Formats: sequence, C-alpha cells, structure tokens
Amino acid sequence: MPIPVFESPLTRMPRLGLGTWPMRGAACQRAVETALAMGYRHLDTAEMYGNEEAVGAAIRASGLPREQVYLTSKVWNDKPRGAAIRRAAEDSLRRLGLAWMDLFLIHWPSPQLDLPDALAALARLREDGLARAIGVANFPPGLLQRALGLAPIACLQVEHHVYLGQPRLLAICRAQGIVMTSYTPLAKGAVTRDPAIGAIAAKHGATAGQVALAWLLAMPGVAAIPKAASAARQRENLGAAALALDAADLAALAALPKSRRLVDPGFVADWDA
Ligand SMILES: NC(=O)c1ccc[n+]([C@@H]2O[C@H](COP(=O)([O-])OP(=O)(O)OC[C@H]3O[C@@H](n4cnc5c(N)ncnc54)[C@H](OP(=O)(O)O)[C@@H]3O)[C@@H](O)[C@H]2O)c1
Repeated sequence: MPIPVFESPLTRMPRLGLGTWPMRGAACQRAVETALAMGYRHLDTAEMYGNEEAVGAAIRASGLPREQVYLTSKVWNDKPRGAAIRRAAEDSLRRLGLAWMDLFLIHWPSPQLDLPDALAALARLREDGLARAIGVANFPPGLLQRALGLAPIACLQVEHHVYLGQPRLLAICRAQGIVMTSYTPLAKGAVTRDPAIGAIAAKHGATAGQVALAWLLAMPGVAAIPKAASAARQRENLGAAALALDAADLAALAALPKSRRLVDPGFVADWDA
C-alpha cells in the first residue's frame, strides 16, 4: 500500500513519516536506515533532538536520491529573531550534510518571539532554497492566524491523536490549504491499552497503533509522524496506510475524550489563544 501524499502549492508531503525523538547516534541512524529501506519517505528531526547528524547519515546510507526523502527540521525557541534563525537553519543543514530541508519549522513559540522578523527569515530561507517549505509548530490558533498573514506557511505541526482533537487548528489549516502534521500520534503508546481501540483493531485484524494512525490518515490534510525504534513497529505503523476504518469505527473513536494533552512544557501560556 503506497503512503498517501499531501499536495499543495507549497509542499508535497508523504502523510505518514517517522518521528526521531529521542533517538540519537548510531541507534538513531540504524532506525532511520531501517525505516527508509522499508518504504518510509518522510523523516522528522529538530535541532533540539541532537540527532541531525545521524538522520543525515542515514539518508546518505540509504542510497535514495535526495528528492525522494522528505526531511523536516526545526529551530529551537531560544532564537526569537530572524538572524539567529537563519544561522540555526545553516547549522542544521551542516549537521544533516544536506543542501536543503524540505520543511523548516519554528519548534515552539516563546514570549520573546519576534514573529514578523522570524517569519521574514523563514521566507528568505525558502527563497534562497535552504528550505523548500516553511512552517510552525505548537502555535495556538490566534498566533497561527497571524503567522499565516506574514509568510507562506506550508505546515502546522502540533500534538494530535485520538485523545486530543484539534478542531480549531484543523479548521484553520483546511481553510488555508496547509498540512497539519500530527505529532505524538500514538499518544506515546497509550492507545495500546485502550479497550475501545483494541476492539476496533480486533475487528479488522489490525493493531491498536494502526487504528490510531488510520484515524489520523482518514482526515484530509493531516499527516502523522509516529516514532518507532524497531523494524517490527515501524512496519506495523506503515501498515496503517492500508487500514480503512468504517463509520462505526470513526464514531467510536470520535467518542473518546479529546482533551488529553501529553506534551506541554509550559512554553504556550494559553493553548486556546
Ligand atoms: N514539534 C514538537 O514539539 C514535537 C513534540 C513531540 C514529538 N514530536 C515529533 O513527533 C514524533 C512522534 O511523537 P512521540 O515520539 O512523542 O510519540 P508517539 O509517536 O505517539 O509514540 C512513540 C512511542 O510509542 C511507541 N510505539 C511506536 N510504535 C508503536 C506501536 N505500533 N504500538 C505501540 N507502541 C508504539 C514507541 O516505542 P518504540 O520506539 O520503542 O517502539 C515510543 O515509545 C517524535 O518522535 C518527534 O519527531 C514533535
């Protein structure tokens, strides 16, 4: 089953990718090589993950043409202004050993973030070809709207899974035609302990992880980046692309509580702002 692709005028992203946090070093390189060999074509890394060297080495070791691998990296939130963001992108590319990133994101907003200056720097990275697309992560709705008015944002990356709906953000992304990349899509593995999800999985001869990912892939304009270290789980997660949930499944999943946020380091004071 091929991985579905999101296409817009600003980017073309495989809708199922591999998260790489918190893998590092040789273990990270091995895991990414394994994933690329079995068909993953979208990798998610960040300056903060400390694994860009390993991810870049895996891309080179895969032997795949650079154009065939969609690579996202992110600048950390200690760089609120454009000049530092530009340097961070250049540093990421050096560590990755790549000439360009497919997507470069502001990892988290900070109170010090100079939004117009930061987004002007992102737009310049795009114009100069260092990043083929640009975007933001962990932006609440109001800040996302402002960002969309300032630069050609292609993507919002945000926590989103069966226990955390993101209706406002999804509505904005769809209205603007940008992709919403769902991180922590397996709720860090918690979906495997949920009897309601287990029942749906059993009905389809699938796994709970596949059900959780298929729920995201059933939403137009949504991509998911599950992290898995082992080949077995990577393959399992890739299999979600072949799982078609029916209306009863979707209704049961919609009925699960939707306000369980798992990633909240305190950088965003008000997620509803
Ligand atoms: N932008 C941001 O601020 C941000 C924040 C958080 C995460 N992210 C990105 O999103 C990626 C994914 O998020 P995440 O790592 O927090 O959470 P996740 O993908 O929901 O869950 C990862 C955990 O689930 C386990 N797992 C993987 N496949 C499984 C399966 N089929 N069944 C059961 N358990 C499974 C993994 O263990 P094993 O590896 O041992 O299999 C790992 O412990 C990150 O790696 C990162 O790239 C971005």
